[in-house]
Amino acid sequence: MGTVRELLDLGIARLRASGSESARLDAELLLAHPDAPVGDGAAARFEATLDRRASSEPVAYIRGVKEFHGLAFGVDARALIPRPETERLVELAELEVVRRLVGAPRPPGSPPLRVLDVGVGSGVVAVTLAVLLRRRGMADEAELAATDVSDEALELAKENAVAQAVGDRIDFRTADLIPGDETRKWDLVLANLPYVRSETLPGLPKATAFEPVLALDGGPDGLRVIARLLNQLPGALARDGVALLEIGGDQGQAMRDLAAERLPDWSCELEKDLGGLPRVAVLRHSSH
Ligand SMILES: C[S@@+](CC[C@H](N)C(=O)[O-])C[C@H]1O[C@@H](n2cnc3c(N)ncnc32)[C@H](O)[C@@H]1O
Repeated sequence: MGTVRELLDLGIARLRASGSESARLDAELLLAHPDAPVGDGAAARFEATLDRRASSEPVAYIRGVKEFHGLAFGVDARALIPRPETERLVELAELEVVRRLVGAPRPPGSPPLRVLDVGVGSGVVAVTLAVLLRRRGMADEAELAATDVSDEALELAKENAVAQAVGDRIDFRTADLIPGDETRKWDLVLANLPYVRSETLPGLPKATAFEPVLALDGGPDGLRVIARLLNQLPGALARDGVALLEIGGDQGQAMRDLAAERLPDWSCELEKDLGGLPRVAVLRHSSH
């Protein structure tokens, strides 16, 4: 029986040889606990994970888990692996909900805020927001819903909601963007929709090929799906509602132009990420 360290060294050498730029980190994540003894079964399982990583499968899919905003989310090929950039969208959503619930006094008996996450994927946006609102004791003051066109992604999102004990707090629905049958409008619409330009997809890191194309492909200009969402906003958002839409770091001006064309009476502000790149478009009717 060898040690984890011996196996780790083998794994690092193997992943380096396969061209990995993060061989040590990947091998450590796949194995962990360097000084624990390992039996033959564990060594064989590690070998199998190395095979998967050496063929470029993302570490997050092999481990089946990815950390997002301090929470552990189950991930697999049913949905996009959550990206750290999306934490900005969740932070802004939390601030917006708190501002509305605490910043401005609401008359007693006001209905809960209605918040919709469009393109829920693994569930990171809606589920993290539900957890953050529960921590603040505000769970009953906001009604959360989430949509996706992918039933597989919705299944994963529900599993993650249950794992974070907010399964009964989010209304998950299969829908193309915003469901059309609403009687009351949404106060807050959040979306991290696909925004990669189709022609750049083949040039992305090999690991990206393991993720659903539906989660990445934003059409010829990258903004095709987001443009359809903009068309829905005037009919779906409350008059003083806000939409927070994640965009690519190089899409700030294109997003402004698109918003000016589709929503001429609306403002479009761009919130930056930690790297200083425009990351979230904030859209609201100019009268608010
Ligand atoms: C970039 S992924 C983001 C997933 C998740 N919100 C996150 O931040 O990790 C985009 C998601 O939008 C979904 N999607 C694509 N087109 C859609 C549409 N027309 N209506 C609803 N969801 C859509 C995809 O299935 C995918 O789950």
